[in-house]
Amino acid sequence: MSKLSIHGLVKTYAGGFQAVRGLDLEVESGEFISLLGSSGCGKTTTLQMVAGFVEPTAGTVRVDGRDLAGVAPEKRDMGVVFQSYALFPHMTVAQNVAFGLQMRKIRRRELDERVAEALSMVRLSGLESRYPSELSGGQRQRVAIARVLAIRPRVLLLDEPMSNLDAKLRGEMHVELRSLQRRLGITTILVTHDQVEAMTMSDRIAVMAKGGIAELGTPQQIYDRPNSEFAFKFLGLTNELSGQVLSVGNGTASVRVGQACLPWKDAGLPVGKDIRFFLRPERIRLCPIEVARCRASVVTRLFLGGVWFYEVESELGSLRMTVLNAGLAQPQEGEVVGITWNDDDLQLAGAEVGHG
Ligand SMILES: Nc1ncnc2c1ncn2[C@@H]1O[C@H](COP(=O)(O)OP(=O)(O)O)[C@@H](O)[C@H]1O
Ligand SMILES: [Mg+2]
Repeated sequence: MSKLSIHGLVKTYAGGFQAVRGLDLEVESGEFISLLGSSGCGKTTTLQMVAGFVEPTAGTVRVDGRDLAGVAPEKRDMGVVFQSYALFPHMTVAQNVAFGLQMRKIRRRELDERVAEALSMVRLSGLESRYPSELSGGQRQRVAIARVLAIRPRVLLLDEPMSNLDAKLRGEMHVELRSLQRRLGITTILVTHDQVEAMTMSDRIAVMAKGGIAELGTPQQIYDRPNSEFAFKFLGLTNELSGQVLSVGNGTASVRVGQACLPWKDAGLPVGKDIRFFLRPERIRLCPIEVARCRASVVTRLFLGGVWFYEVESELGSLRMTVLNAGLAQPQEGEVVGITWNDDDLQLAGAEVGHG
């Protein structure tokens, strides 16, 4: 169990391009943190600096207080699994897993024990003498993980290791890898551009943008109550509504949005101010018209299996909404329905989303 501390990490590539701009992150002992962000935001560069493959332009990486500046990758006690994890095709599963241990001059008896243990952790016991070409994609990927676990690293670094697997297998690997990581209590950083992957596996997620951390928190915090508008729009889907403050009084405000007039809890807004709101599609519900916040007519209805997706035209404007497929009859395109949501579901946009 090890704590990883990253302070003021910077990487400037030749030509002056800053891929990572002063990144700070504390990964607690046994914690699983994801670096989530779109392609090119600096995730891999960050991980490579932690692993020791890329030298930082500035900043420090510490494990349990020890500064790793100048320490070679193989001396860092870190296990790294890349997207393009390469197994040795001419070696069996057991030989692949043993490779790193032989490099470390581990005695035969202990080596055999550790290989067996690592393969059992990733549930591949029995496949020791197969070759990589005789394994499925998911099994190969687990060999790559076993190979890293066998060296008993203090820190596990994963760079999109599941992005080559098909969706269903990926989902299974998320659950398996997460439960393995919990059992071993191994401090882990996962790099991914897949929000579902990050949400499923992480204790906390660092949403990255332009070489820095835009938002840091538990999956639920960053999805429901992020501090930044960037994070709110980056994660999931949202409706963005424009409005104007009509009047203020008695501790509430009244806001015009489209053709509708909505009450708003914050009376501190100046009359006439242009404001924007966010409303997540899954927070809008169908309801009887008598108790609806507004009427809406169904423009598009799509069946997505687990949910129905609707585009409706309402007094507020055009809205996207999702409804769980509970096997109930659903309104048709062209039908007029009532829609509603809870007060807290409407969030004021701006720098401080979710706290307005
Ligand atoms: N060796 C390199 N030389 C120059 N630029 C690089 C190098 N490696 C990465 N970059 C640039 O740094 C930025 C961040 O890259 P990377 O860390 O790989 O992003 P991510 O993993 O988030 O997709 C990108 O714009 C990329 O083109
Ligand atoms: Mg990358």
